[in-house]
Amino acid sequence: MKKVCVIGYPAKHSLSPVIHNYWIEKYGIEGKYEIREIEPDKFNDFLRNLHKEGYIGCNITLPYKEIAFALRDGLFVQNNSKDIPIGFIAKMSGAVNTIIMNDGKLIGSNTDCFGFYENIKKNEPKFNFENGKAVIIGAGGAARGILQSLIFTKVSEIIILNRTRDKAEQIRNEIYEPAIKDKIRVIDWKQRHEALKDINLLINTTSLGMIGQPPLDIDLSLLPKEALVTDIVYRPLITPLLKAAQEHGNSIVDGLGMLLYQAVPGFNMWFDEELKAKGIDGVEVTPELRQIVIDAGNLS
Ligand code: ATR
Repeated sequence: MKKVCVIGYPAKHSLSPVIHNYWIEKYGIEGKYEIREIEPDKFNDFLRNLHKEGYIGCNITLPYKEIAFALRDGLFVQNNSKDIPIGFIAKMSGAVNTIIMNDGKLIGSNTDCFGFYENIKKNEPKFNFENGKAVIIGAGGAARGILQSLIFTKVSEIIILNRTRDKAEQIRNEIYEPAIKDKIRVIDWKQRHEALKDINLLINTTSLGMIGQPPLDIDLSLLPKEALVTDIVYRPLITPLLKAAQEHGNSIVDGLGMLLYQAVPGFNMWFDEELKAKGIDGVEVTPELRQIVIDAGNLS
């Protein structure tokens, strides 16, 4: 039986087993997806011994995505998403969230960008990324990954708004291609309300708005009604930002879809043979799966 796990610290509340074990059961695959909560001083050894621990692959979650990038032996080269190359994204964002063992080597990729992109594409199929400016709020790891999605989807201008301006500038400075760098603009946190004036997409990548955290303090008065608003926070499903956007008349996409869709390329990689043997082209995110995850995570 093939075994896969998610490694994090803490990790016991991860919803990834619910997602992957749903597909394992649905397609009658001989497999198991487990949670492994590994302390920081044991992480390197655990990952290096992944195969001996009985796993053919894993997901990496907080706080280990950057360390996993440093420890990997290679990156996944096959582009299993037409739009978002998951190995290249890992390289560009310096973070790995999905690993498959190949000939004893740890092959890394980053499927978070794919998850972000698919979540919008599947929930708002008419949304056109190329139609105007996007605003990213935040400048942490999640913002870095999402920036790469926006670059791939040919967004014309990307504005990064972060409380600490230097961190946003740093992300911009890490982009080495001048044509892409020119598309990215950093705006001061004080000007965040006015920055929404003529944009097409607003994304919160901070944890503000999550249960137990203060809401994101931003005034949507100037936000065009045609703009799409999305949040990576999914606890609650409708964050204060998404609620305010709805009330303002905007379309919204909640953050749970990103979690669901980021799982797809990993599952398809790990269980490729099993799926092919059953004539299945790849797993899907269905309303049933979404509801199972909502129930399991007590999300509302
Ligand atoms: P991750 O790597 O998971 O994205 P992170 O690196 O901790 O998380 O980043 C959290 C983001 O939330 C940062 O952009 C942070 O802004 P700073 O760079 O100024 O710290 C932002 N953030 C956290 N609390 C905030 C607050 N009260 N107001 C505005 N931004 C906040």
